[in-house]
Amino acid sequence: MYCSYRKGEPNAMYKPKPTTGDTSWFVHDRFGMFIHWGLYAIPARHEWVQSREEIHPDDYYKYFERFNPVDYDPAEWAADAADAGMQYVVLTTKHHEGFCLWDSEFTDYKVTNTPYGQDLLTPFVEAFRAEGLRVGFYYSLIDWHHPEFPIDVIHPLRNHPDALEMNKSRDVRKYAEYLRNQVGELLTTFEPDILWCDFSYPGREYKGMPGKGHEDWESEKLLALIREIKPDIILNNRLDLPAEKADVHTPEQWQPTEWVKVDGEPVVWEACQTFSGSWGYHRDEQTWKSEGQLIRMLVNTVARGGNLLMNVGPTAKGTFDERALDALDTYGEWMELHHESIYGCTQSEFSEPLDCRLTQKEGKVYVHIFAWPFKHLYLEGMGDKVAFARFLHDGSEIPLKLEDWTSSHLQAGENTLVLELPVLEPDVVVPVIELELKG
Ligand code: GLC
Repeated sequence: MYCSYRKGEPNAMYKPKPTTGDTSWFVHDRFGMFIHWGLYAIPARHEWVQSREEIHPDDYYKYFERFNPVDYDPAEWAADAADAGMQYVVLTTKHHEGFCLWDSEFTDYKVTNTPYGQDLLTPFVEAFRAEGLRVGFYYSLIDWHHPEFPIDVIHPLRNHPDALEMNKSRDVRKYAEYLRNQVGELLTTFEPDILWCDFSYPGREYKGMPGKGHEDWESEKLLALIREIKPDIILNNRLDLPAEKADVHTPEQWQPTEWVKVDGEPVVWEACQTFSGSWGYHRDEQTWKSEGQLIRMLVNTVARGGNLLMNVGPTAKGTFDERALDALDTYGEWMELHHESIYGCTQSEFSEPLDCRLTQKEGKVYVHIFAWPFKHLYLEGMGDKVAFARFLHDGSEIPLKLEDWTSSHLQAGENTLVLELPVLEPDVVVPVIELELKG
């Protein structure tokens, strides 16, 4: 619905550090859908279930033998994402369990060998691109199925009495080669716009078994391969390489209160968040975020110069469950009326009024009101800057001139713009006022 695919215009105000990958469209589009999907949709109790419950790969195989998402329709998913105002998608092609959603030539542990018997990724990529969304791939560096992946602190076999002994025959060099083969395969076959590698944990030793980082993944080699195949791909920051090698920094499960900086410099960043407390489909988890939280998280992210990647965990049948669809509708309804304050916007140069978040793009400042005040909104430093003010949801004017008797009472500092608001809060989750700046 909102995918008028414009090439991103650079933001006029604060600019993050330049990136090697092409982030111009990314910082414009601001809002994407994360999808965590794999065998773990069947146990339906967190995508880490194999590690948490220390399930032996031989036992976990029961899910592989039963994976058959008969209702999978990626065109429907893509339409849901577009209707929610999302402009790109990042799908878990392989999560930590090691199961692959595409017909990889380098493993048998893939969807084509399950009862479903078909590649999921090709139709996925086609469907999302047809809907006008950019496509990114999440790829887990961790692999709890691969026989050459040394057992470590998060591996399901970490407490196996023979873990150390088993590690003697596991060769991380061979595993690193597998990583390169698969990443190369994904990049050449599908040409994704984003590669989202996850994750590194060097230094986390457990019972004599080291954690894993760039030496294990051979990250430098992997990076060289990625840039060689697709120089403009957007790469995240979880390969355990120096920060400047990454294009996008990825706070997860916390919301930055200011623009994310690396060595004091603002960087391109993307918060990844969940609708409830799990990335994979979790049937019984109850901490689903409220409408207000969902919208405020998106607004807060853009007001701090970042992107929001909001996650859906599809079911084992291949569908989005009702709770996820409701959350997507919340975004859709709000974005339909307010997308102008998100797309192409970034942190504002002006300071925020009480209980508000500002976003800005060429010629416009958007005031997102988180707590509706009684009658007056004070915008410091904007007294001489604004030509016109209106609500985004209905386009109605907010007069710039106050009644004379009021102005004499208000405690407004110099060059403060005071807007007079209706007493009744508009019936939208977060009301937004558009300020047109003087030319
Ligand atoms: C974490 C988790 C993982 C999830 C990811 C998303 O690293 O291991 O389950 O995929 O965060 O950012």
